[in-house]
Amino acid sequence: MSEVNHTKTVRVALAGCGVVGSELVRALHVQGPRIEMELGVRFQLERVLVRRIERPRTVAFAPGVLTADLDAFLATEADVFVEAIGGLEPAQRIARAALSKGRPFVTANKVLIAAEGEDLCSLARARGVDAHFEAAVAGGVPVVRVVREYLCRGPIRRIRGILNGTCNFVLTLLERGERLEDAIAEAQRRGFAEADPARDLDGRDAADKLAILAWLAFGVSPRSLALRRRGILPDAERLSRGASAAGGRLRLIAECEAFAECEADGEVVSASVEPIVLASESPFARTVGEENRIAIDAGWPWPIELAGPGAGGVPTAAALLADLIQATTSRAAFAPHVAFAALPTADHASNHVDLRVHAWLIGVRAGLVREARSRFADAGIAAALAGATIGDGWLITAPVSWSCIAPVLRSLEADGARPAVARLETEELRVVEEPLPLIAVAVGG
Ligand code: HSE
Repeated sequence: MSEVNHTKTVRVALAGCGVVGSELVRALHVQGPRIEMELGVRFQLERVLVRRIERPRTVAFAPGVLTADLDAFLATEADVFVEAIGGLEPAQRIARAALSKGRPFVTANKVLIAAEGEDLCSLARARGVDAHFEAAVAGGVPVVRVVREYLCRGPIRRIRGILNGTCNFVLTLLERGERLEDAIAEAQRRGFAEADPARDLDGRDAADKLAILAWLAFGVSPRSLALRRRGILPDAERLSRGASAAGGRLRLIAECEAFAECEADGEVVSASVEPIVLASESPFARTVGEENRIAIDAGWPWPIELAGPGAGGVPTAAALLADLIQATTSRAAFAPHVAFAALPTADHASNHVDLRVHAWLIGVRAGLVREARSRFADAGIAAALAGATIGDGWLITAPVSWSCIAPVLRSLEADGARPAVARLETEELRVVEEPLPLIAVAVGG
């Protein structure tokens, strides 16, 4: 790229200097000269909002840059506001203050965008700027750009992904025989996990990211997306062992899919975040560690697939920096977010009860396998024995909807069978006895 002659100084106000914020500061130091040379922009850190000024830091700041005073931060004369704090408040207040002043807002905050993204984008459009949130979904993988800009006019049918790096990292370590607590502690040590790692493991973090993608792809309001969410807790270790016994690998998969249910209803969207046992050789099963992977089905013979580092300070800061550049340089003129305004409104695609049918892998306490099987049979659901692991027997059901198996699972739970359940998508099932004949089941009953 050629050098530019004039340098424009862009004053940056950054909220948060933790794992992600400090990496953004480092990236601005390290990449600043190249950005200035190639794009003619010098990013100048005007103010950085932190919780405790006196805390030791791995990056240096000019005197007076750090502040713990939110009002002083909001009053900063800055050209762009970046938020890397996480959570709803004070992130929302910062976003609204920045956009109301006509300043672009850049964030890594999925909780904020899932809850308030629609309103923030409306506010931004009214002020002639934009809210940028590439870093909020899949860390360093540029999936928001792809869905928001590149594919916006294409008929996206389905998005499926591993959207939480911590959970995938933990599952990978469990496959190698590590204990759950140790795996979580290691994810925290590496800066992948949320402040409350339960958000990673129970699917809430992935659900927020999925809601953002479903909004961009289908126009469903993130706040009203009906989503079936089941994480890997409390049965992570049992499910991981059960997946191996069934010949596959366990992954937490987020997916949303639009389809025409009937002409009168228009499009409907199904969405779920849940553990799925996948064939060991499939791309999602081979996604290990904190890597994220997203497959976008836009009606072409093959899905568009994106994969890369989905968690951690460096990749997330790289996504923030890319947005910062887009928000404040002429590059924005070539990659406008106007496409977003043309997306269907939230009413276009309604939510509905999930009627998709799947096979399910179900673990129950070893002594209760026969009983569990007969309860499924009573409900008209064939279940074959798939194997045994320490303390558990594993059943594989015929393909049925979640609403069919949920009541049986509840009754087993009530009777102390401790059912652990994952969707099953292995091609070759390792069934250790002849399966019961598959019974036709009323879907959605
Ligand atoms: N805790 C998140 C994850 C960070 O593990 O994916 C990136 O959003």
